Amino acid sequence: MVKKKEIEKTLEEEIVVEPITTEKIFEGPIIPGIKSKMAISDLPGVGEKIAEKIKEAGFFDMMSIAAASPKELSNAAEIGDATAVKIINAAREELDIGYETADKVMERRKKVLRITTGSKNLDALLGGGVETGATTEFHGGFGSSKTQIAHQLAVNVQLPPEKGGLGGRALFIDTEATFRPERIVQMAKAAGLDPEVALSNVVVGRAYNSDHQFILAEKAGDLIRNHNVKLVIVDSVTAQFRTDFVGRGTLAERQQKLNRHLHTLQRLADVYNVVIYMTNQVMSRPDVMFGDPTAPIGGHIMGHFSTYRIYVRRSKGGIRIAKLIDSPNLPEGEAVFLITGDGLSDPPEKKK
Ligand code: GTP
Ligand code: MG
Repeated sequence: MVKKKEIEKTLEEEIVVEPITTEKIFEGPIIPGIKSKMAISDLPGVGEKIAEKIKEAGFFDMMSIAAASPKELSNAAEIGDATAVKIINAAREELDIGYETADKVMERRKKVLRITTGSKNLDALLGGGVETGATTEFHGGFGSSKTQIAHQLAVNVQLPPEKGGLGGRALFIDTEATFRPERIVQMAKAAGLDPEVALSNVVVGRAYNSDHQFILAEKAGDLIRNHNVKLVIVDSVTAQFRTDFVGRGTLAERQQKLNRHLHTLQRLADVYNVVIYMTNQVMSRPDVMFGDPTAPIGGHIMGHFSTYRIYVRRSKGGIRIAKLIDSPNLPEGEAVFLITGDGLSDPPEKKK
């Protein structure tokens, strides 16, 4: 019989490919206090066994424990709620999470990095590209280009910083079976990257249902830390939740699960300073008589967890129009970009 550890080892070996050529850009998480020397097993009430379970559940460091909810931790480690609270409090104390002055926040904001979308217009709308340490949600109807942008970012993250990348890998959680390596090859060639290397820098996880998707995100921390992943894509973040929970009877359960999933993604962004790019469909709202009768799936929960929300729609001749709906620091606005065989770009300037 093949032991679980051995399977994990083989999996590990399979994804270890030639190291990316660009040097590391940032030395780790940017959140204050994160560099805790304390081991998880040193926390009160945590022995080696519980520490192992906690890690298996995806809580690899003090920060992720400190940011967990008691329920999450108690379920993960099979311990009582009271013990979970104690452990979380101890992790928080150890990390010295608290208030800080705005100049320190400003200092940290300077460490926020961006990945270019390939379109100058769209980059400008997003304040220079898609941001690390945040979640960015693109929603829109079918064919609006959400998946195309996902592929483009998976290529562009590999570019060196001077070309708008982060010299890192992409993790692509594909829930709709629409990931296409051929598109990576096309876009990589157009971006001046070796297509073979580019393919090896995109780690794909095909999610077959919402539980699977959930687990892929929970396990992502490991890959991020060990494989220089700087971008996590979830395309689409809501579709599986929509099909797995049909009917209103399970609506609350669905929302709760989606809530936890988004929380996991948000935590990855915070702890590892990576880009989270997620896509979302829109549903038609028959009650809207004027204006746009479409609304993103996921209701308030999606709105709550997306740092940047962009609505994208199709126009004529490969043109797409993106609208920034929600952002903590950028003005609302629109950007026009183009999808071609080479990927994202800007429409040619109109002749005067
Ligand atoms: P759903 O997932 O169905 O909700 O849509 P989406 O927003 O993910 O759309 P997607 O990104 O898959 O966009 C598909 C569209 O991109 C196609 O209809 C084409 O217009 C365009 N497209 C895809 N591949 C190519 C290509 O190789 N060349 C060109 N020129 N356009 C492409
Ligand atoms: Mg799609």
